[in-house]
Amino acid sequence: MAKKRVAVLISGRGSNMAALIEAAKAPDYPAEIVLVLSNKADAGGLDTARANGIETAVVDHKAFGGDRAAFDRAMHDVLLAHKIDLVCLAGFMRLVTPEFVGLWSERMLNIHPALLPALKGLDTHRRAIEAHAAIHGATVHFVVPEMDAGPIIIQGAVAVRNDDSESALAARVLTVEHRIYPEALRLVAEGRVTVVDGRCLIDGKPVPDAGTLMPPA
Ligand code: GAR
Repeated sequence: MAKKRVAVLISGRGSNMAALIEAAKAPDYPAEIVLVLSNKADAGGLDTARANGIETAVVDHKAFGGDRAAFDRAMHDVLLAHKIDLVCLAGFMRLVTPEFVGLWSERMLNIHPALLPALKGLDTHRRAIEAHAAIHGATVHFVVPEMDAGPIIIQGAVAVRNDDSESALAARVLTVEHRIYPEALRLVAEGRVTVVDGRCLIDGKPVPDAGTLMPPA
């Protein structure tokens, strides 16, 4: 089967993007990262992408004033020009319009640094500590119009320590992110994920507990 052509959308350092690029180097990986698109020209991840010989594009949201629809259309045009099959949001810090989401329905993934549906939005690690959460983690899900919602493909969990700092917790969650995002993209690219009644099935079956909570290394 032909490898799926993937665009990774970033706004910053791009460590999840780098994890996807590394995973995609394996000959049997079912997807290739053909484009990294940023809404910021100075996103650090662009250098990493270039160093890996991956084409980059910048669509600067500021050039569109507040016109989100025009910004999304410009991104969509770039994605079409590169014959993209799947889109991975990886620290892409712009809200996208329902129209754009509709164009990429069940073909656009996002990673969120919390165990959704808990802790949507920003500052998830600080909020997990402040809420005295015992378990925290990360979620890869399909993008739907509502922010930080959508069918969950994989989650990974970490324990929150009593003396955790925001940065220490963030670092442990990031390690989990780098494991679950490549695995989620693999499952989607292999065509093994279907959405039924808002839930992801893998190989037509409910996601097994062991794979959901803490994917084995
Ligand atoms: C990641 O922790 C990702 O989960 C988060 O931003 C970070 C980006 O890091 N995404 C969001 O908060 C989306 N709302 P990275 O650029 O090193 O991948």
